[in-house]
Amino acid sequence: MISKMSRPPLLTLALISMLIGASINATRTNTPRLSILTDKPNYESLTPDFVSYNYTQTLDHFNYKPESNTTFQQRYIVNSKYWGGPITSSPIFVYMGAEVDITHQVLGVGFFPVLASRFHGLMVYIEHRYYGTSMPFGSEEEAYKDANSLGFFSSEQALADYAQIILHLKQDLSAENCPVIVVGGSYGGMLASWFRLKYPHMAYGALAASAPILYFKGLTPENGYDHVVSNDFNVSKSNI
Ligand SMILES: *[C@@H]1O[C@H](CO)[C@@H](O)[C@H](O)[C@H]1NC(C)=O
Ligand SMILES: *[C@@H]1O[C@H](CO)[C@@H](O)[C@H](O)[C@H]1NC(C)=O
Ligand SMILES: *[C@@H]1O[C@H](CO)[C@@H](O)[C@H](O)[C@H]1NC(C)=O
Repeated sequence: MISKMSRPPLLTLALISMLIGASINATRTNTPRLSILTDKPNYESLTPDFVSYNYTQTLDHFNYKPESNTTFQQRYIVNSKYWGGPITSSPIFVYMGAEVDITHQVLGVGFFPVLASRFHGLMVYIEHRYYGTSMPFGSEEEAYKDANSLGFFSSEQALADYAQIILHLKQDLSAENCPVIVVGGSYGGMLASWFRLKYPHMAYGALAASAPILYFKGLTPENGYDHVVSNDFNVSKSNI
């Protein structure tokens, strides 16, 4: 039990040093960057290494009502350019899409290919439900229509979506032994850390970049974030 409990911090430390090592190394050796990073954010500008798929996703993961069984097409994008494959148990880096069309994030997350090339990782980007083409009810208009259609628009449902797609992918690629590292930024980073907490058997580690995971009223004294922002405003105001 004791050794089991001491595992997560060690893994976290290992991952952090791995990631720090990766970024230092990337800066030092100028690891090749993908040309897409400077291109316009639309799917057409992605290189052919990025392949888009749809997963038939369940609308509601949390009850057995017949209407919960409704499905929608959820988009995910895979790049296997650097992947070492299942035989070498090479890692799978999963980018947890946030509140935006996923193709924008594919283009924006420059360190993801750097990470993948260094660790022979598979790059997977999953679009968040209710964004981009991952619309329940067939269209954005229908999806955002009213409280009934918006009732399935939650972080809990999104995390369960990601779990389904990760399971599907691992099975499809015979990659059951490949460790999954989930990554996200801002709200997506919150999703990554919550995913590690809620589905620890699926994610070996999580990297949450610029993720305000404690940004909820009452979680920190004086509502820390608001305090820092107000204070910053006060200071700049007095400098004008
Ligand atoms: C995925 O589903 C969307 C929405 O239904 C559709 O517009 C798109 O063509 C599909 N893409 C693929 C690769 O099947
Ligand atoms: C939901 O879908 C599954 C798989 O397609 C099916 O086996 C099941 O009977 C469906 N349940 C309901 C309540 O429609
Ligand atoms: C900002 O300045 C006002 C007026 O000087 C003060 O009352 C307030 O406490 C300050 N807020 C912060 C967060 O420092």
